[in-house]
Amino acid sequence: MIDLQSLSELIEFRRTVKPIDAIGQPNYSERSVSRETIQQILSNANWAPTHGLTEPWRFTVYQGEALNDLAELLRRAYTEHTPTEMFKEGKREKMASYAEYTQVAIVLGMKRHPGKIPAEEEVMAVACAVQNLHLSATAEGLGGFWSTAPVYDVPVVREAFGFTGNDDRCLGIFYLGYPKNDWPERKKGAPQPVEDKIIWR
Ligand SMILES: Cc1cc2nc3c(=O)[nH]c(=O)nc-3n(C[C@H](O)[C@H](O)[C@H](O)COP(=O)(O)O)c2cc1C
Repeated sequence: MIDLQSLSELIEFRRTVKPIDAIGQPNYSERSVSRETIQQILSNANWAPTHGLTEPWRFTVYQGEALNDLAELLRRAYTEHTPTEMFKEGKREKMASYAEYTQVAIVLGMKRHPGKIPAEEEVMAVACAVQNLHLSATAEGLGGFWSTAPVYDVPVVREAFGFTGNDDRCLGIFYLGYPKNDWPERKKGAPQPVEDKIIWR
């Protein structure tokens, strides 16, 4: 059994590492991520808590050549489903670049079980699974980035990812790769003190 000290270190060590930095330089090395590693990470995600044991998390994994398809899908989706006044070419290209510069992209789905559990709780269960995923990636030395954008959850886009149920949702894309640079520090340092967020009774 892992001890609390080791677990605390892992939790603090976990960082968001995006496939590219703010000026478009790659953050991930060329080193590929083995299928066994991805499988272990997703197996850990699969152990997340889930109300009613609905296990609502779903994963669509893109690697290798398929990442170019994902980049194109994102470009097209953003172009077709972004209102003109909101459209920014730079934003579209950045979104597509994440897919082009990553080693792995895991599209995060929520499979709805109507009438059983409130949708909000199914979303929360998926978030728990994603935290398991991110911590497991950290333990393997992988950088990870949970990307969210409204366009991922447009019905035709969601269906293209393989989430085809009426009330299913796409909750983001999780990018993974071995960092090519030093492990980053948390932006703005440590979180605000937890004491400020606790009411003791
Ligand atoms: C649900 C969720 C969605 C997120 N979506 C984005 C996103 O779309 N773009 C982004 O830059 N960061 C996104 N992040 C990552 C946060 O920016 C990141 O967690 C935060 O800066 C703290 O850094 P850390 O993860 O290294 O602790 C998301 C995080 C969560 C939990």
